[in-house]
Amino acid sequence: MSDKRTLPDLAVFGGAPAFDEALHVGRPNLGDRQRFLERVHDILDRRWFTNHGKFVQELDQRLSERIATRHWIAVCNVTIALVLAIRGLGMSGEVIVSSFAFVAAAHWLKWQAITPVFCDVDPRTHNLDPERVEELVTPRTTGIIGVHVWGRACSIERLTEIARARGLKLAFDAAHAFACSHKGVLIGGFGDAEVFSFHATKFMSSFEGGAIATNDDGLAARVRLMKNFGFSGYDNVIYVGTNGKMPEVCAAMGLSSLESLEEIIAVNRRNYLAYRQGLARVPGLTLVEYDPSVQSNYQYVVLEVDEERAGLSRDQLVRVLHAENVLARRYFHPGCHAMEPYRSYFPHSRLLLPHTERLCARVMTLPNGTAVTPEHIERIGSILRYCVENAREVGSRLAAVVDGRGPGR
Ligand SMILES: Cc1ncc(COP(=O)(O)O)c(C=O)c1O
Repeated sequence: MSDKRTLPDLAVFGGAPAFDEALHVGRPNLGDRQRFLERVHDILDRRWFTNHGKFVQELDQRLSERIATRHWIAVCNVTIALVLAIRGLGMSGEVIVSSFAFVAAAHWLKWQAITPVFCDVDPRTHNLDPERVEELVTPRTTGIIGVHVWGRACSIERLTEIARARGLKLAFDAAHAFACSHKGVLIGGFGDAEVFSFHATKFMSSFEGGAIATNDDGLAARVRLMKNFGFSGYDNVIYVGTNGKMPEVCAAMGLSSLESLEEIIAVNRRNYLAYRQGLARVPGLTLVEYDPSVQSNYQYVVLEVDEERAGLSRDQLVRVLHAENVLARRYFHPGCHAMEPYRSYFPHSRLLLPHTERLCARVMTLPNGTAVTPEHIERIGSILRYCVENAREVGSRLAAVVDGRGPGR
C-alpha cells in the first residue's frame, strides 16, 4: 500500500499511483459464472438467439415473481424502455423531467419532437421537487418523468397527486432502483410505468438490457408490440414499432445476475459502510445516506463536496483520485440542461435550476461493487483524508500544475 504522507506521494504530483489497475465506479458484477456458461451452452445447443426466447420469458417471469407488478417486459436497454413508455403512454407537447439525470430521457423526448422541460430537484433528496414540477405545468404538458436517483424513491405520492389532478402521465426512470423500496413496497409498480436498466455498470446486469414494469394492461400490450416492430404473429404488422428485443445471451446473464443479487447487495452495503466509516470525520465531505428502514441496493457511493469546508473542490478531488487510478465520476455533470443541444435551446435554464447546478458541481460517485474491497476503500479514504487535511498545500500545488509550472517536488 502506497501511503500518502507528503505532497510528492500523490500521483497527481508525480508519486506512484495508489492502484496499479483502474478502479471503476461500476465495474461489472459477474454473478455465478458457471450458471451463466451453462445457459450459454443451452442457447447454442438450441440455436435460439433472440426473438422472445426461453430465457427472456424466464427473466420476465422471475422479475414479476420478485416484484409484484403485473407486467414485466425485458428489452435491450433502458433507453429503449423509456422510448416505448413515452410512446406507449402517448406523451407529446411538453414533458417535465429532471435535469439532474442521465441524458437518455431528454434525448428520447427530443427525438420524438417533445420538449423536455427541465425541472429543479430537492437538494436533500436529489430527486424532482414536486412543488417546482407544479409550477412548470402548462396546457402543453402531457407527462412527468421522475428519476429515482441513487435508488432513493422520488416523492411518489406528491407526483402521483399532481399527475392525477392535471391529467398527466407519470413514468419513473428506475435505472438505479432495482431492488429498492418505497414505504415497504419494492419500486416497479408506481406511476403509469417504471423502467429499469440492466446495463453492465448497473448492479443487476445483463451486459446491456432493461425492462419496463407496469400495471397497465393496455400499455403492456402496446409495448410488447412496439418492441418487436409491431408484429402480431407471423407477417402481421399492426402497430408502429422498433427493435427493442433483448437477446437470449443477455437474458442468460440477467438470470444469473438475479440469482446472485443478495450477495451483490451485501457486498455493496459492506463497502458503503466502510466508506462511511472512513470518511466520517472529514470536513466538507458528506456521503449520501440510505434510510435503513427502506430496501436499497447500495450501488451508489455518492459524495457531496462542500468546497468551503473541505478546502478543495469536487473537481480538484476527482483530479487527485484519477491520478491514483480511482476513476470517481462526476454525476450527473454538467446536468442535461447544460449539454447540447439543450444548452442552446434553453440558454437561461441554468438560472431556473439552482439546486441542480449546485449538485452538478459538488457530487461525485466512488467505486463500488464486487470488484471493490474494504482494503481499496481504506486506501481511497486515506487519500481523501490526506487531501482535506492538507487542503491549502494540495490546492496551491494543483493550481501550479494547471498553470503549467509543473508538479515540482
Ligand atoms: C438514470 C439513468 N437512466 C438511464 C440510463 C441509460 O441506461 P441504458 O444504458 O440501459 O440505456 C442510465 C445509465 O447510466 C441512468 O443512470
